[in-house]
Amino acid sequence: MSKIRIAIQKSGRLNQDSVQILKDCGISIDNGKDQLKAETRNFPMEVMFLRNGDIPQYLRDGVVDIAIIGENVLVEKGEGIEIAERLNFSKCRVSLAIPKEVDYTDINDLTGKKIATSYPNTVNSYLADKGINAELHQISGSVEIAPNIGLADAICDIVSSGSTLFKNNLKEVEVMLTSEAVLAVSPLISSASKKILDKLRFRIQAVLKGRT
Ligand code: PRP
Ligand code: MG
Repeated sequence: MSKIRIAIQKSGRLNQDSVQILKDCGISIDNGKDQLKAETRNFPMEVMFLRNGDIPQYLRDGVVDIAIIGENVLVEKGEGIEIAERLNFSKCRVSLAIPKEVDYTDINDLTGKKIATSYPNTVNSYLADKGINAELHQISGSVEIAPNIGLADAICDIVSSGSTLFKNNLKEVEVMLTSEAVLAVSPLISSASKKILDKLRFRIQAVLKGRT
């Protein structure tokens, strides 16, 4: 019998809740520590533990059929990938922030400024939409340090509790988007996997209903 291949985050914010929602759906993962691919019990599924940022490409190439991923990652590089279910966890915002002591009136204040981010496409389209020209610096993590070390005037990153902004003396000035974990689907999913996906969606909907 065929199996559906699902990608979930290897480590990080979504990992635990992703494993939990599968468990709540009656699907337990048989994985040893550091195992990147695992079988499941009670459901025709194979789980791949991957880096967040790599998941959109795996979906696009059809290497995995579905994935649990942050919507923010799909907005950044998930063109053509559809969302099957919103999962109501790992809620966050993707925001622009500047040093606390700098005055801010509106987005025009960012004209000509340097913005450090791991989300260049998201920032570019937001700024283009508002007709603002700014200079982007792409970095892959610890973005909030950039203004303190003179690398940028502003940053754009994920805000969840707000504690990273606070600790780095930054204030949130624009919320570009709000995000949550979603179940995303490969455009190349087979009809056999699609049938399994429908069963999974049915279980997920029941679990989410039970949680509210
Ligand atoms: C993430 C994100 C923010 C922070 C937001 O960073 O990039 O910096 O969490 O969460 P908060 O509002 O609750 O503080 P992470 O710790 O995952 O590290 P990274 O940026 O180095 O990937
Ligand atoms: Mg960070």
